Amino acid sequence: MIHLTIDDKSIEATAGRTLLEACRENGIQIPTLCYHPALEPYGACRLCVVEIYKEEQSSRLVAACAYPCEEGLNVKTNSKAVQRNRRVVAELLLASGYDTPEIVALASEFGVKEARYKMPQADSCIICGLCVRACKEIVGISAISLINRGINKKVSPPFEETSPTCIGCGTCVLICPTGYIKLRDVFGSHSIHRYSSDYDRAQCRICSDLNMSSKFNQLIEGVTSDAASYGISGDQNG
Ligand code: SF4
Ligand code: FES
Repeated sequence: MIHLTIDDKSIEATAGRTLLEACRENGIQIPTLCYHPALEPYGACRLCVVEIYKEEQSSRLVAACAYPCEEGLNVKTNSKAVQRNRRVVAELLLASGYDTPEIVALASEFGVKEARYKMPQADSCIICGLCVRACKEIVGISAISLINRGINKKVSPPFEETSPTCIGCGTCVLICPTGYIKLRDVFGSHSIHRYSSDYDRAQCRICSDLNMSSKFNQLIEGVTSDAASYGISGDQNG
């Protein structure tokens, strides 16, 4: 076990835990945006920063979602420097996603009502990378990625064209914290707005959901083709 101090409280953490995990296991709240427990940490939004003190060294701010627990570390999760950082991050988010209710609500939690500046190409994508990582790490498809640099950075399928590999599963829609990616279901068609084209809608043979894309259905059927090992009958709905 690793012994550290967080907000003046002695904590024991399992080796390999991040500061964020140790805090959450001990009921200490830290705001996050680009973190998801099912995905590898990415450290993009910097909303989760905490201040750490190591012997003899001056303190510094680190992303709690990516920084590992270390023996003897002293951590402050709500110091003046941390609060100042959160307000700056909130203001930057507001500058890039100013018309997004989720971002407006988050910023107001930190007392930021308005950004002093606006990004030139502001839209509601905050480049948190959750959709890209979910597509790669959970779905295993990598239909989208982060392209370009600086203010031109954005999420896109290859060559900014309709993705040939996207299965229309909607995982990116579900995980996007700002609602930038949307799913549209109209009669007979299922569409992930922004990143892929329309898909035929099909009924899932496992759960009967009518809003599956036919490509996603094919993938599920492939995965469950050895139905007995999953205890599932592929013929539940005819
Ligand atoms: S589309 Fe949504 S999930 Fe993807 S990077 Fe932008 S804000 Fe994050
Ligand atoms: S949640 Fe840690 S950097 Fe975004």
